[in-house]
Amino acid sequence: MAIPQTFIQELIARADIVEIVGRYVQLKKGGANFMGLCPFHGEKSPSFSVSPTKQFYHCFGCGAHGNAIGFLMEHTGMGFREAVQDLAGQLGMQVPEDDASPAERERAAAARQKQATLTDVLEKAGEAYRRHLKTSPRAVEYLKGRGLSGAVARDFGLGYAPEGWRALASVFPAYDDPLLAESGLVIVSEEEEGRRYDRFRDRIMFPIRNVKGECIGFGGRVLGDEKPKYLNSPETPVFSKGRELYGLFEARAALRDKGYALVTEGYMDVVALAQLGFPNAVATLGTACTPEHVQKLFRFTDAVVFSFDGDDAGRRAARKALDAALPFATDVRSVKFLFLPPEHDPDSFIREHGGEAFARFVGEAIPLSRFLVESAREGCDLATAEGRAHLAANARPLWTALPDGALKRQMLGELAELVQLDARELGQLWSAGAARPAAAAPAPDERHRHDARQRPFASSSQRRAAPPPLRGRGQPPSRADVALRLLLAHPLEWETLSHEMHALLCALPGAHGEFFTWLDGQVHEHGIQPFAALREGLRGQPFEPLVERLAAGPQFTAEDGEAPAEEALAELRNVLDFMLDERLKAEQTAVLATVGSDPQALERYKALERRRLELRHRLRRQP
Ligand code: UTP
Ligand code: MN
Repeated sequence: MAIPQTFIQELIARADIVEIVGRYVQLKKGGANFMGLCPFHGEKSPSFSVSPTKQFYHCFGCGAHGNAIGFLMEHTGMGFREAVQDLAGQLGMQVPEDDASPAERERAAAARQKQATLTDVLEKAGEAYRRHLKTSPRAVEYLKGRGLSGAVARDFGLGYAPEGWRALASVFPAYDDPLLAESGLVIVSEEEEGRRYDRFRDRIMFPIRNVKGECIGFGGRVLGDEKPKYLNSPETPVFSKGRELYGLFEARAALRDKGYALVTEGYMDVVALAQLGFPNAVATLGTACTPEHVQKLFRFTDAVVFSFDGDDAGRRAARKALDAALPFATDVRSVKFLFLPPEHDPDSFIREHGGEAFARFVGEAIPLSRFLVESAREGCDLATAEGRAHLAANARPLWTALPDGALKRQMLGELAELVQLDARELGQLWSAGAARPAAAAPAPDERHRHDARQRPFASSSQRRAAPPPLRGRGQPPSRADVALRLLLAHPLEWETLSHEMHALLCALPGAHGEFFTWLDGQVHEHGIQPFAALREGLRGQPFEPLVERLAAGPQFTAEDGEAPAEEALAELRNVLDFMLDERLKAEQTAVLATVGSDPQALERYKALERRRLELRHRLRRQP
């Protein structure tokens, strides 16, 4: 299962980080290093440096840093394994996958090859559409008429598919190449014995990119009132509507800057918002929001604001988004819902009322907790016992879908009050007959929660196999040790940590960082697993001895006399906050060094100081 560490090392040694980063960021040689504008935060003067000798990148502005694999993960939101695959593919290396048969491996390689070919075809079509836009005054007029600037049209690579049944034949002389049909660009008629023609004709073209920036499909809008208004690429090996978000690639830097993602329903909404100050907007592709969409977004940000049109359809769409978001609404994340006035979508609203008015709506977006309650009580007459029972029945699946945490517990209290039961009663009612959750899924009730948190390592055979105890030679454990040990004992906590915290842990020097990077990859790949399952993959990893040593610590041996989970979790948060503070301090030092040359440095220093103050405030409040 696990990718051998030797292979990772080999991969990093062979990869050229300057070249890899250079694909996404314009770099200029400056002394021994290369410099560019940091892709992880907005800046006007370059503080992002890439070292060819250390094979490392570092931003003096925001502190982002890491190696080639880390860059791909951070920049494209890929999981660890995905990033390794991607990098290996670029270098023509084969990732050793001991569990795959040669036939499976061949199939996987062939599928990857096919995908690369398809995205090339789509990219080429996109370029042709862009050329056509330049020579079609009608299409340009349409876009201008909708208020689009040339700059934003360029940023999003908008184009125009000309009239005519076979316009693409001028770009692809082999028009009957099956790839054209497979990519969705060409339709093969079933009635007329394989007559072929362009899917997109006389439409404004919106290229859809995956997080790597590859073109995977298109949306095409008519210039008038014909139906269908929008035509989308069909499902292909590279394009799946339920998983992709329009504008996510274009929005990545803005997601970090703004600190949240704005999810809309339309292509035009994304483009208009980007033009008028909200480049952090993305759109679902004419489908309801899915859990995959939400999960993907949370790889880039900890906060999501869903925006919906102020009509009934918008309300229904919001309800679907709520369902999709619930399982991901951990305590460190924020999910909100914004409802525009009826008759408006974000595009029409921001063009009519401007960015400030839109920002006010964002500011007043309602939190998930409130929308959950509103959804559950819809149509219930709370003056009657029946109505209240009805509310409870509506709320149960919603509440159950929430991951365990402080939010979930508070919601139980709030809902209980509404239905005039006490929280314990309602909790009992809801846990009676509840199906036992799968090992990795969030547990729905108190009892399971304890199981999941405290028992995953409790098999006695594991404990017997455990190597020597933690504190050898009187050395106090480092903070990184403590964090690692506590996370091993409470693996569900990993999902509750913020993006920033994950990055911090993965970037720790030496075996700790390697382990967390590996763990992050495992979680991306398989979800949270108990230690017993992780242990398989640990074998032979360079960090195995470290992990085994820490796993043998007190947390794992005392079965019943164990410190309560609450205490351990408080300790974990405490130690993580300390580590974050240290990191922020280091960033401040780095920023101070650039104050002379960078007019923004002082602001950044102050921003870091504010964050540190917040942190220290939090630390002081803890026992
Ligand atoms: P809307 O009908 O709200 O259109 O569809 P819109 O985004 O406001 O478009 P404009 O402003 O008239 O240009 C919202 C989204 O639903 C999908 C598209 O993704 C669209 O952006 N859709 C809509 C389709 O896929 N097909 C359609 O025929 C209509
Ligand atoms: Mn619209």
